Amino acid sequence: MAKLFEHTQLKDLKLANRFIRSATWEGLADDNGGCTPELVDRMVELVRGRVGLIITGHSYVHEAGQATPRQLGVDKDERVDGLSKMTEAVHREGGRIVMQLTHGGLKAEPKLTNATPLGPSNGEGLLEPLGKEMTPDDIHQVVTSFGQAAQRARAAGFDGVQIHAAHGYLLSQFLSPAFNQRGDEYGGTLENRVRIILEVLRSIRQAVGRNYPILIKINSEDFLENGLSPENFLEAAVILANAGIDAIEVSGGTLLSGRFVPFRKEITFDRDQAYFRRAARTLKKMSNIPVILIGGIRSYLLAERLVAEGVTDYIALSRPLIREPMLIKRWQSGDLRKATCISCNGCFGPARSGRGILCVQDIKWKS
Ligand SMILES: Cc1cc2nc3c(=O)[nH]c(=O)nc-3n(C[C@H](O)[C@H](O)[C@H](O)COP(=O)(O)O)c2cc1C
Repeated sequence: MAKLFEHTQLKDLKLANRFIRSATWEGLADDNGGCTPELVDRMVELVRGRVGLIITGHSYVHEAGQATPRQLGVDKDERVDGLSKMTEAVHREGGRIVMQLTHGGLKAEPKLTNATPLGPSNGEGLLEPLGKEMTPDDIHQVVTSFGQAAQRARAAGFDGVQIHAAHGYLLSQFLSPAFNQRGDEYGGTLENRVRIILEVLRSIRQAVGRNYPILIKINSEDFLENGLSPENFLEAAVILANAGIDAIEVSGGTLLSGRFVPFRKEITFDRDQAYFRRAARTLKKMSNIPVILIGGIRSYLLAERLVAEGVTDYIALSRPLIREPMLIKRWQSGDLRKATCISCNGCFGPARSGRGILCVQDIKWKS
């Protein structure tokens, strides 16, 4: 039976336990997307808290893909030296770190990029102001940017990369019929909508070689009218597994999905936790691909059961580790009380105001 505190391996990547810090935008890069000492300190804190793997906040592969302020960039070669400071600090402490690669697509922020956002279609009916439908050349440029960004991540010492294809950003928009109304080979059928992601995967694989881990985070459902369905998710996941992805993180929702945003509130009862567990369980039955489950996991005993019962191979956490960076160490020491995060999403506030993510509950207690 699989256990939470046992060693596992994803390609070249050896992991000390099955806990993963899911990608979390910290808002702590500098104003130009560069790595800062504050951001490095946060990573070190997470390693000291014994999380098996850190996935960085979403990092833009092209300057036109920036979606949030003080977001990390991996869009040019000059980034490599700064990013190396992060990986060196993590490795020095015995940790492992993967970089999440993203393009905001229609959710790129024009105030930051000075450009009209690009998407599979223009976003009519979903977004204001409208974006611009990408040409085949634009698509080719983005695919190339992902490959180049992965090469930089590898050069900077990251232990792998994760393709961000969830939450309504560019690659998720292509997968979603709600965003993607194209009539060419990138729209229409699921095979067409997944094509850009397969091209991104191929571009990255060419850049980083056979044994370098390439993970993906993908929606199990968009929770939008005409959005990605659970059936389409499974189909896409199997296509990606067969194409050589090394692990699939199962998430869901977009910023437009109302109470079904990826970071749900009101996780009051045990049944509210692990809100994508059904999708993960079905995927595990259909494929041998390692699965990472994210979304509302707060209880150690539930995490243990999810892994023991084969619902997932890895347990990912975001908000609980903002509140308690030492959570995994606490659980490992035998204090199995639930994570103290109350899922209020107050942690976004300080990040949006330029102070970086913080648990506002902690601030209340301390003051
Ligand atoms: C402050 C904050 C920033 C986030 N940034 C990212 C991100 O950069 N990339 C991503 O894939 N998900 C991001 N997420 C979503 C989380 O990774 C996760 O999917 C979601 O919060 C649900 O997990 P949880 O209940 O453990 O927090 C973010 C969530 C929060 C609260």
